[in-house]
Amino acid sequence: IFHFIISFILAYLFGSIPTGYWIGKIFYKKNILELGSGNIGTTNTFRTLGPVPGTIVLIIDLCKGILGALMASIWGPAPQWAFMVVGLGAILGHTFSMWIGFKGGKAVATSVGVLLLYSPSMFLAAVIAFISSILLTSMVSIGSMLGFTVVTLLSAFWLHDWLLTTIALALTIFVFYRHRGNIKRIFNGTESKVPFGLGYWL
Ligand code: G3P
Repeated sequence: IFHFIISFILAYLFGSIPTGYWIGKIFYKKNILELGSGNIGTTNTFRTLGPVPGTIVLIIDLCKGILGALMASIWGPAPQWAFMVVGLGAILGHTFSMWIGFKGGKAVATSVGVLLLYSPSMFLAAVIAFISSILLTSMVSIGSMLGFTVVTLLSAFWLHDWLLTTIALALTIFVFYRHRGNIKRIFNGTESKVPFGLGYWL
């Protein structure tokens, strides 16, 4: 249990690196928390700083999830479930980062990193749901919320993986909560769109 706690704390430390916020501050002298949607994630970095920092944030935030989950195996071979549970530390770090007053992102990229390590097939399902809904609606927030929902449903009804189902369900509820501003904007018709996908042109 001691080893487990250390792994979890290390995962939290990885996750809590506020990539988008630091890149904005250091390289652009901008506070991303006050620009665009005010989120520190990939989408808002693309939106407010551009595609290069956006891609860097995506890669680093995915890696935070992957490396965070891998902390489960620093003491030796670990069971599959341990990657998911330790990976939660990274997701918590990303969403409640100690560097920015325990504020943080919407849990998307970091969770996807953890999922890649835990279940590549579910990772693929999430990415397909995410990309196809963005191609239809042009709204990243819809892709994020749908991706989490799809993973929860597939895990419950297809994989029958109760650990993943429980965690994915909790994360889905949390992701919807963190997207409450986006949900309001979607219903108002003011949610920002990315310039690819059908929704942008219709
Ligand atoms: O991953 C976050 C995305 O779903 C929405 O980001 O900046 O549009 O709130 P944003």
